Amino acid sequence: MTIDGQGVQTVATAAQCPVGADVDRAGAPLSPFHRVGPGPVRPAEASENPDGAADWMVTRYRDVVAALADPRLSSGKVEVSGCPRARADEAATYGASEATVNKIMSKIMVVKDPPEHTRLRKLVVREFSAKRIDAFRPRVQQIADELLDTIAERDEVDIMKTFAFPLPVRTISELLGVPDEIAQRLLPPEDERDAARGIPLDTLHAAAHDWVEVRRKAPIDDLVSHLVVAHDDGELSYEELVAMPFLLILGGFISTTQLIGGGLVTLLDHPEQLAQVRRDPTLASAMVDEVLRYA
Ligand code: HEM
Repeated sequence: MTIDGQGVQTVATAAQCPVGADVDRAGAPLSPFHRVGPGPVRPAEASENPDGAADWMVTRYRDVVAALADPRLSSGKVEVSGCPRARADEAATYGASEATVNKIMSKIMVVKDPPEHTRLRKLVVREFSAKRIDAFRPRVQQIADELLDTIAERDEVDIMKTFAFPLPVRTISELLGVPDEIAQRLLPPEDERDAARGIPLDTLHAAAHDWVEVRRKAPIDDLVSHLVVAHDDGELSYEELVAMPFLLILGGFISTTQLIGGGLVTLLDHPEQLAQVRRDPTLASAMVDEVLRYA
């Protein structure tokens, strides 16, 4: 099958990318399966999931636009619990019991299509207005400076434990108003941090649950208290209520942690690019975009 601006043109065979990105940058045909690895990617690549089925990664702009607009593709079909091996792998890798995977991962809005996705997203979207995020910028800078001050004098440093992980966790915790006692559980002392996993999902699940219960007993003017009201009004189930802060904290740190780590490795691997950004710090924002595409 190929999809371009004109829509679907031919019918898929099992071995082809569902959105039809079937040639590489040089125009050479892609073999059906390429393991996705680090570094530059082709327009479409497949990796095998534990079921033996292929997951496709689509990277070319027009293919991504086509995929996002294609009603045959669904976020709702990403049912982690539907695949026993994926469930076991997921649990082991991310520190999640099967209960967490089943109860929470299938309730987060990332794995929903409209109208459920629309219903859930509407409940939190105002927390992330451009104005609010922009107003928070100086505080993020302050947290970053504080973290850098603590490592400036060291000869050797684990950047994941000391910066890439704590920066987004502290930022998202403050932005969302996670109670202090719960926020501390998300960010243990440096030597107890698991740099690879970040926050084990069971820990995050328990934290989200406790945060909901704290606000149920004593509501304030914050995200979770608003969600508790929405739950009482029948707008979302209890599991969805717990899944929302779980997702927002998870989404709030994991991509950024990986971006910082991957970005740093990428720059160290490309010293000429690093030197260019050092010479001209106004390139930093474009550098982040490039690293997001590349790393
Ligand atoms: C480097 C930074 C980030 C990157 C590259 C990134 C990337 C993405 C991508 C690609 C998706 C779509 C996932 C999908 O539909 O399958 C997504 C969704 C999401 N991200 Fe991020 N993200 C980043 C930072 C954040 C931050 C700071 C938050 C803070 C809460 C966040 C929260 C979310 C949420 C809640 C969703 C689900 C949105 C929805 O389903 O409507 N992300 N992110």
